[in-house]
Amino acid sequence: MIIDIVTLFPGMFQGVLGESILRRAQEQGLTKVGLVNLRDFSKDRHKKVDAPPYGGGPGMVIMADPVFDAVDHLRKNGREDSLVVLLTPGGVRYDQTLCQELSKQKGLILLCGHYEGFDERVSQGLSPLEVSIGDYVLTGGEIPAMVLLDSVVRQIPGVLGSAASLAQESFTGGALEYPQYTRPPEVRGLPVPTVLLSGDHQAIAEWRDEKSKERTEQRRPDLPGAVKKKYRQI
Ligand code: 6GU
Repeated sequence: MIIDIVTLFPGMFQGVLGESILRRAQEQGLTKVGLVNLRDFSKDRHKKVDAPPYGGGPGMVIMADPVFDAVDHLRKNGREDSLVVLLTPGGVRYDQTLCQELSKQKGLILLCGHYEGFDERVSQGLSPLEVSIGDYVLTGGEIPAMVLLDSVVRQIPGVLGSAASLAQESFTGGALEYPQYTRPPEVRGLPVPTVLLSGDHQAIAEWRDEKSKERTEQRRPDLPGAVKKKYRQI
């Protein structure tokens, strides 16, 4: 999968791309990430890409032309099939289902806004999928793009050690994950639940399923996996 990121701040991505799983996925050729500096597509000799909003109001708006040119440039360089995603707090809310859909794409072009966002004609001209990562305001689309990047790349076959880590995790079944423990058997007087040391695989699976449902019901009653236990139903 090819993921291109169009941004005014390409340096923000060096950290996440250079470490851990995202680094390994690129080294193994499982994904290719391209950084495109929007400023390189400025028409202006001062490399400006923003201007005040028509009609007045605070802040600056990113001009449409440099964004069109950046996407045209990518389209002409092997990205004709990439899906354009625009990161904006006004987009549809990102979740694991959308993540799995995006991970099936051949390529993604992530447009990161800043300031007061993009000229609306970017949306009109490119019909991007507009995505928000949650109900709070960030200073730009770069951190949301990193969230998409990380969550999508780990869905690509071969990126994670085992397919089981994808299947079992929180949200995949609409529920939160069960609690995990590792060595030693006791830490500061806190023991590991005895069932996990029993070797009884059936009992362990049942305990985990119960904990997962309990936790989902308590913390995220909005998720489909928040099934109330029989004796608690009225
Ligand atoms: Cl995609 N952008 C910005 N600026 N803020 C956000 C967001 C995106 N998603 C949640 N908050």
